[in-house]
Amino acid sequence: MIEAARTATLGLLLASSLACAQTPYNDDATYRGLGGQEGIKKITDTFVALVLADPRIKASFDDFDIPQLNLRLQEQFCEFAGGPCKYTGKYRDKTMDGVGTVRDMKSVHIDLKISNAQFNALAEDLQIAMEQHGVATSVSNKLIAKLAPMQRDIVTSSPGVQLGARPDMGKFLATGGVSQLEGAGGGGITPWALITGYGSRDSWGANAHYTQVKTQDYSLGAYGVAIGIGDRLELSLARQDFKGDLAPLHDLRIKQDIVGLKVRLMGDAVYEQDSWLPQVAAGIMYKKNKGVGGLGALGVTNVTQLGARDDSGYDYYVAATKVLFEQSLLVNATLRATKANQMGILGFGGDQGDHARIMPEASVAYLINRKLALGAEYRRKPHNLGVDPEKAYWDAFVAWFPTRNMSVTAAYANLGEITVFNKKKQKGWYLSVQTGF
Ligand code: HEM
Repeated sequence: MIEAARTATLGLLLASSLACAQTPYNDDATYRGLGGQEGIKKITDTFVALVLADPRIKASFDDFDIPQLNLRLQEQFCEFAGGPCKYTGKYRDKTMDGVGTVRDMKSVHIDLKISNAQFNALAEDLQIAMEQHGVATSVSNKLIAKLAPMQRDIVTSSPGVQLGARPDMGKFLATGGVSQLEGAGGGGITPWALITGYGSRDSWGANAHYTQVKTQDYSLGAYGVAIGIGDRLELSLARQDFKGDLAPLHDLRIKQDIVGLKVRLMGDAVYEQDSWLPQVAAGIMYKKNKGVGGLGALGVTNVTQLGARDDSGYDYYVAATKVLFEQSLLVNATLRATKANQMGILGFGGDQGDHARIMPEASVAYLINRKLALGAEYRRKPHNLGVDPEKAYWDAFVAWFPTRNMSVTAAYANLGEITVFNKKKQKGWYLSVQTGF
């Protein structure tokens, strides 16, 4: 009995949270931000023109009554933005729940067999239309927050990843993240739950990156390739190349190879704007340190001679990421089980500890506009080596996504202290370029 009541309560909660997705804002700030009825008309005119010229989706609109569609869209945008309008779509009667909150976008679109990439293309055209009419990103994202959950109803074609399928570049700009220092899709230093690249759930995407971090005493180069399949699975290969440039470590050179695998387990960071649940992914990184150069005079050629217990190891992580369009934010939290010293550059385990410890990592980014994000990240690391006063990493970054084929991330990075020889906080710049599809 109690169980039944619990299930019913849960059902009600779920139903009300789903209904929220389609509930208009209850103040008219977004409506005013869009320029009221007149602004919405101008935006919709531009939006419809963009859609009808967009090779990704224009064919779907052949043979439909476009002036009618334009009017319905104006009503819908106005209503969701909190304006004084009511959507009067032709399927209204069929689906009204008596309260006036539920729209049946499913029946409207079902015969069109719309793909995820088409849905995103249309949403992007709307973003561009709002941009062209000078709508602030904080406002346009609020409208997108209301429309994004409709993906569940509107996207009905799901062929999955077909053998030989061409990349569809179907994801929203920036939603593959950038490449983090160990090659996974994420921020600069933290893997996120997002799957790298622009392949939608029916396709795949791949990219290559090069990153350079330069502090007072050291530099770190990282480069690699990654592939995202079906917006579900991510495979990455990366190499790190660490160099010293201040005596006595001016000749120091350490390389490391990293193979990464990530699987999206649940949730969708982008579409589930009507729920607080994040996208969650789990990942594993196998790291192999390639040895120490430049310390031959001391007889040191392997990190184990610096106190590390091993020159290879595994990191395991779980990441949760959410894009909060309403707040124009992306937030991520990652927990990583690791015994890597300085990501593995100084090996794994040591005299101070040789078991995997769970370390928190976090990122937050403000979406300044569709192409630009400003954020900060933090990553704690274990302290296993007596010779290395290892501290947390953090950075403040700006990431620019001019197209789906390229992103540039610049950051101010603090890599903490790295060795007892150059015992000061290693701070400096970070620059990363990613190119792909
Ligand atoms: C956020 C995404 C979308 C929203 C909010 C949306 C909204 C709407 C609305 C309000 C209508 C008018 C329904 C009526 O007459 O009452 C409509 C119709 C239509 N939509 Fe969408 N739509 C979306 C995505 C798409 C996509 C991705 C496509 C195709 C690529 C598409 C193709 C159409 C077509 C062809 C019609 C006309 C259907 C008819 O008149 O029977 N829509 N949509």
